[in-house]
Amino acid sequence: MKKNIAVLPGDGVGREVAKGATAVLEAVGQRFGHEFEFEYANIGGAAIEESNNPLPNETLELCKQSDAVFLGAVGGPKWDNLPSHMRPERGLLAIRKELSLFANLRPVIGFHSLLQSSPLKPEIAENVNMMIVRELTGGLYFGKPSERRGDNQEVVVDTLQYTREEIERIVEKAFELAVIRNKKLTSVDKANVLESSRMWREIVNEKAELYPQVEVEHMYVDAAAMKLISRPRDFDVIVTENLFGDILSDEASMITGSLGMLPSASLRSDGFGMYEPVHGSAPDIAGFNKANPMAMILSAALMLKYSFHLREEAEAIEQAVQEVLNAGYRTVDLQSTGGTVVGTEQMIDLIAQRVEEGSAISSIMGAYM
Ligand code: IPM
Ligand code: MG
Repeated sequence: MKKNIAVLPGDGVGREVAKGATAVLEAVGQRFGHEFEFEYANIGGAAIEESNNPLPNETLELCKQSDAVFLGAVGGPKWDNLPSHMRPERGLLAIRKELSLFANLRPVIGFHSLLQSSPLKPEIAENVNMMIVRELTGGLYFGKPSERRGDNQEVVVDTLQYTREEIERIVEKAFELAVIRNKKLTSVDKANVLESSRMWREIVNEKAELYPQVEVEHMYVDAAAMKLISRPRDFDVIVTENLFGDILSDEASMITGSLGMLPSASLRSDGFGMYEPVHGSAPDIAGFNKANPMAMILSAALMLKYSFHLREEAEAIEQAVQEVLNAGYRTVDLQSTGGTVVGTEQMIDLIAQRVEEGSAISSIMGAYM
């Protein structure tokens, strides 16, 4: 198989971890006989520096002509005081919208070897395996008007808008995932307060009739926030609107111990997708070879699975990550779990090598096997 992939490293540690995704895909290519070609473009702060535009047209065109997109991360203190339409984050929101990437899949899977780094008790955090399905191109992030107004500009308004169609497609996606997972869907809303949530709930109930094998529950977002840390194993698939999904996915990442382990896929209805780590640009550690590349590397596995239907290849990447962790290697964010701390580049090499060879690496940390 031959695929063209657009790589948008972005800012901060995005530039360091992006190499993780390309290196493991090259290793997959070697081992399984595929060809991946990468073309690079700027987004976010890097693009503002280059062309005064957080999402230049060339970047968007490159993505549209590619088979899939990798994104590192955007943002940094340097651009924090720019007007809102010029912020790096604007580039990220624009690319999601322009490419119609309405379905954001954020799997939250606890690695057994990292259990100690979770702030939750091990008996609560172990064996967590959930999929957060976040609506990504609607709601408060995109509703108009969104502005300051009034004589003194001291009245502010943001708009939470959804059409029936926008809700239907994300709910359908979540049901499809629940069917191939553990057949449980939790729809998260605020239907005791918000009109948008009441229609959301109505649509979930309508769709539920088409998926009788899936057990459906509705949960208010405040209760869901609580349950995520008290009984995280109760969740299988969670479906929710844009802002709730943003908040709950950061919260859920902590169950696994580090935001540095969480990959994501943002999909269009035809399977085209953009793949990125859930973590941000982490300007405080950028440039020091300290970032955890595993969220980015696991995002490459999601690309193989969701866009290219290469399941065995995707599993080879997931397995390699697991084995490198089992062999005792850690990035700085995971050092509380013991083992040998390595830099971003070394971690990338270890995992890529493991993917390419498909044979066990020798452990320098026998005690942690
Ligand atoms: C995320 C991020 C973005 C979001 C920011 C950087 C705009 O937090 O992908 O979760 O809010 O969607
Ligand atoms: Mg977020």
